[in-house]
Amino acid sequence: MNGSPSTPHSAVYPGSFDPLTRGHLDVIERAAQLFDHVLVAVVVNPQKREPLFTLDEREAMIRESVAHLGNVEVDHFRGLLADFVRHRAGTVIVKGLRVVSDFESEMATALMNRSLSAVDTVFLPSDPRWSFVSSTLVKEVYNLGGDVAAFVPPAVLRVMQANRPPHPVPPNVSS
Ligand code: PNS
Repeated sequence: MNGSPSTPHSAVYPGSFDPLTRGHLDVIERAAQLFDHVLVAVVVNPQKREPLFTLDEREAMIRESVAHLGNVEVDHFRGLLADFVRHRAGTVIVKGLRVVSDFESEMATALMNRSLSAVDTVFLPSDPRWSFVSSTLVKEVYNLGGDVAAFVPPAVLRVMQANRPPHPVPPNVSS
């Protein structure tokens, strides 16, 4: 989908990225092959809950992780994704699909975004190596003192290790 000079394709890859996982990075790397430009769009206030990492931390970890990709940029947005995509002249939204159950909500979101902005969403199937990896699970393992090195890029691991929760639950201790 690399566009001709007259039809450049600028893809917006939105998410909370709290934090960026290896699965996210895989989607970014593949999108960077498919599209002329990829804008990683970090939502300022994730809807799920208070983020573990600040916006600045999330953006910095992504920037370092995508430094090897010349056509990838990182920015943040608040409010409607559809408005942001229009504002940044995006031509397509990219989302990764890990498991079939992701599809239901992603489909509705894609159709809503197309109604709002006339921008389509392209789904990239997750690499099977990362299909079970989510930011939520990574945070749960991390908060309980587990090793997350296999699931996050080095730049993320460094920050996570530096901020390691002060009192991980000792193994084999029941409360
Ligand atoms: O990584 P996440 O948490 O799954 O990302 C969700 C995100 C940021 C893509 C989604 O919550 C979003 O698009 N938020 C912006 C608000 C919006 O536009 N909502 C209407 C979409 S139908």
